[in-house]
Amino acid sequence: MSQTHKPAPLAARRSGPLKGAVRVPGDKSISHRSLIFGLLTRGTTEIEGLLEGEDVLATGRACTLLGAKVERVGTGSWRVSGTGVGAILPPRGVLDFGNAGTGSRLMMGVVAGHGIVATFDGDESLRKRPMRRVLDPLVKMGADVVEQAEGERLPLTLRGTPDPVPITYETPVPSAQVKSAVLLAALNSPGRTTVIEKEATRDHTEKMLAHFGAEVAVEPHGAHGRRIVLTGRPELRPNRVVVPADPSSAAFPLVAALIVEGSDILIEGVMDNPLRTGLVTTLLEMGADIEHLNRRTEGGEDVADLRVRFSRLKGVDVPAARAPSMIDEYPVLAVAAAFASGTTRMRGLSELRVKESDRLAAVADGLKACGVSCEIVGDDLIVHGGRVRGGSTVATHLDHRIAMSFLVMGLAAEEPVTVDDGTMIATSFPDFVPLTTTLGGEILPA
Ligand code: S3P
Repeated sequence: MSQTHKPAPLAARRSGPLKGAVRVPGDKSISHRSLIFGLLTRGTTEIEGLLEGEDVLATGRACTLLGAKVERVGTGSWRVSGTGVGAILPPRGVLDFGNAGTGSRLMMGVVAGHGIVATFDGDESLRKRPMRRVLDPLVKMGADVVEQAEGERLPLTLRGTPDPVPITYETPVPSAQVKSAVLLAALNSPGRTTVIEKEATRDHTEKMLAHFGAEVAVEPHGAHGRRIVLTGRPELRPNRVVVPADPSSAAFPLVAALIVEGSDILIEGVMDNPLRTGLVTTLLEMGADIEHLNRRTEGGEDVADLRVRFSRLKGVDVPAARAPSMIDEYPVLAVAAAFASGTTRMRGLSELRVKESDRLAAVADGLKACGVSCEIVGDDLIVHGGRVRGGSTVATHLDHRIAMSFLVMGLAAEEPVTVDDGTMIATSFPDFVPLTTTLGGEILPA
């Protein structure tokens, strides 16, 4: 996405029952990682089901600038011929990650572990996001931040080291991006690196390290955490990656079917990794009718078809410990909570303030604009559900998930809901509007 783009407002209106079977695109986290592992593996990595959204394509372009050959061979089918660990090239241009926090932060780890200099940049939203959490451990490993914008933000120039120091690092915030950046830098380290997380976050990097032949040990740590030990300088072997459907994208048709009366839909092949299933757990507690059918394994992950029917939801208390397993799903959970009877309290949402937008504020403002009573108390969001009037325009702040969440709200609100800009939806779920339309949802340019 360019630095400045023309906003494209969209409006969703109260729709008849949603019906039909759909498959949402490939998981964004796994898609970014598959390209990066392709770069770090000598030989050819084949990827099936890659999410062809703007964020992932930006990571693909960065891989090309760092020396990989990245080819599209069919819809979702990509081939990456990589340089291997220790052999990536100094980029001849700026690595522009657009809106993609994951792509930029993981690639900072890659660059930090190699003797090259690279400049990272992104759009207006990414330029506001904190990078210190990633740079701190990378500097401990020997990387150097040559230049950066005020507040340790993009654009920034990083000088990596050809011999990253193996460290033991306890992540100060629960973040899979921070964990992954350290592990990716550690790939080129002449020793063992340990990452400790107090609360387990998505484990796609660890799984992919093992899939490509690295020596990585994962053990429980404390009540909810993990300890990951990676042995550096492995010879990664090319392997095929099959990307399962993204549970964070499935969340939108899922909540839509729960709130639009008479709906009954099937969402196929959704990844069921326990570190990503917090939303489904919470919705089941709220009384949602969600059935897991045809449980199976795809590309090393558990997947299932989800049959979802309209449900009368009730408010619940969502514990803070569940946040890492549903961190991207709070905006759409807040929409479900608006239609539920009673109060929903979502606890411990400080990390939502540093996403593509300040999601805590953006969600609360959007709910209020649509006539839903809510408040932020400390780091908790409290939503008093029941009636959803709609009839307003919601500010999306360059945030794809805010846009999709409030469009979902509009499918069941009394009056249409408009979002000021639907452009960013292309970063993670380019077919969101046509897919929703296939199911019978009415979303149109406003
Ligand atoms: C991601 C980790 C999460 C999540 C993001 C994707 C990843 O971010 O919000 O959309 O792929 O590692 P944090 O690591 O900042 O929690």
